[in-house]
Amino acid sequence: MRNSVALGLLVAASLTGSTALAQQPRWWSPVVADSAMVVSAKSEATRVGVEILRRGGNAVDAAIAVHFALAVALPSAGNLGGGGFLVVRTADGAVHTYDYRETAPLAASEDMYLDESGEVRPGHPSWFGALAVATPGSVAGMKLVHERHATLPWAELIEPAIELAERGFPVDPYALRLIAGKVDDIRRFPGAAAILLSDGQLPAVGDTLRQPELARTLQLIATQGPAVFYHGEIADSIVGAMARRGGLVTHEDLRRYRAVERPPITFDYRGYTVHSMGPPSSGGITLKLILEQLETIDLGNYPYHGARAVHRIVEAMRRAFAERNVLLGDPDFVDIPESILAEPYAHELAASIDTLRATSSIDIRPELSASQATVESTETTHFSIVDPMGNAVASTTTINGSFGSLETVAGFFLNNEMDDLTVKPGVPNAYGLVQGRSNAIQPGKRPLSAMTPTIVVQNGKPRFIVGSPGGSTIITTVAQILIGTIDYGMTLAEALDGGRIHHQHLPDTIRAEPWTLSEDTVAQLESIGHRVEMRRGYSGRAQGIELGPETGLLYGRSDLRGGGEAAGF
Ligand code: DON
Repeated sequence: MRNSVALGLLVAASLTGSTALAQQPRWWSPVVADSAMVVSAKSEATRVGVEILRRGGNAVDAAIAVHFALAVALPSAGNLGGGGFLVVRTADGAVHTYDYRETAPLAASEDMYLDESGEVRPGHPSWFGALAVATPGSVAGMKLVHERHATLPWAELIEPAIELAERGFPVDPYALRLIAGKVDDIRRFPGAAAILLSDGQLPAVGDTLRQPELARTLQLIATQGPAVFYHGEIADSIVGAMARRGGLVTHEDLRRYRAVERPPITFDYRGYTVHSMGPPSSGGITLKLILEQLETIDLGNYPYHGARAVHRIVEAMRRAFAERNVLLGDPDFVDIPESILAEPYAHELAASIDTLRATSSIDIRPELSASQATVESTETTHFSIVDPMGNAVASTTTINGSFGSLETVAGFFLNNEMDDLTVKPGVPNAYGLVQGRSNAIQPGKRPLSAMTPTIVVQNGKPRFIVGSPGGSTIITTVAQILIGTIDYGMTLAEALDGGRIHHQHLPDTIRAEPWTLSEDTVAQLESIGHRVEMRRGYSGRAQGIELGPETGLLYGRSDLRGGGEAAGF
């Protein structure tokens, strides 16, 4: 059935011309293509990636071009002033994972956000404004992956983003929602207001958003490379803005910044090989701990989203996050116990699950306890790419909050990634995460991330390429997509569209998207000691590609929760 739908769409695409672009069709079906696919959170960026692939560029060429295009077309999350992670599996089967996470400035200190009595200062200073900014990594990261894997010239990959910034793009309802959702904060930051508002007012759907200052900045990066960002004119702008506005990033921070390759987190899940991101992202290890606990049961035989399945999944999430929140941090600063990477670790966690009763989070890792969480609006973005040669890329990038710290320089937004560090033990971050001392603020340290760009391999070929935004829910989003496909035999599109649940140890609550669990299921879960919160709003916004093992076709899906696009040829 799936194959006939797929072939029908291919035929439909070919009827409109031999080079017809497969585009995001109606809600019920993935986009189908036979040699290459790009899925990102913005159609303008997706099309840039497809164009690079058509020119003969590989998946990493396309990823670099998509990254810069997202910096223009999705300024809430795409970025020059942030950081991210990229997982690439080359056609010969080698897997490389790259870390261009931001670093805490050298002048940062463990108690930098606390007052004399040890309380977090008012106004959320790790979130809004210059003091929230960590040293950006994205430009160095793009250059590193370019040196290692790319085939097209650096400047050629930035050119489409420059054009997009000059020409502008139409504000769509999704972009308007992002701006409107934050307009009061945007008005407090003149640089942000100048980019996003016209005369202080919200743009209308259909208005063109042009970013001439950003175009000039991108032009400098295209012609001078990362040197201009870390040592030259852009570095001067960043440092000048930081000095004027009370931020900490200095020339020395920028000069010292390095993007690095990290060892991938690779593990087997029911015969599939999963490759994901290691520390300083917690994504790969936490995903592994969740799935390996579930491997001890025949999950696919538990009714989907029924109480029995949800209980087991939640207990696995609770335990995996407890370990994450206590043990993980920047591997250049903390010793992460190697045993966490061995299968028995997860199996031992699973052995402590009571099949009939919810475990109280506080009993698992009593050293973590939380005060009340604050909720902020957040944005990150993921894209997945497969090229005609068989290379695959999964990349997730962020400035943390929606439009980051709201501080801007040279036409771009600066991150507020400092909030991902432990501002004070016991005080939840913007995602409600209660983290420990392993993620405490230290000069030069990378904040622990939840970004989980993931490539799943079956029989020596990429099978799923997936990732998502969503802060702490990134990990549980990716886990549930893999559970949907691998345990329940869903297509990637079905698994990606399915409702999501989330547990992160603290708060000790199951969060569920509103249409995900039936009343009966909630009642059953509550009767065994779970707290369930039906949460308005989405959990993640994934972008994924499935490679059909029988058909050899590519099936792309941009999450229905957000305004992205899958396209290919
Ligand atoms: O690195 C992290 O885990 C967070 N800074 C990601 C932020 C995020 O996903 C916000 N998106 N909605």
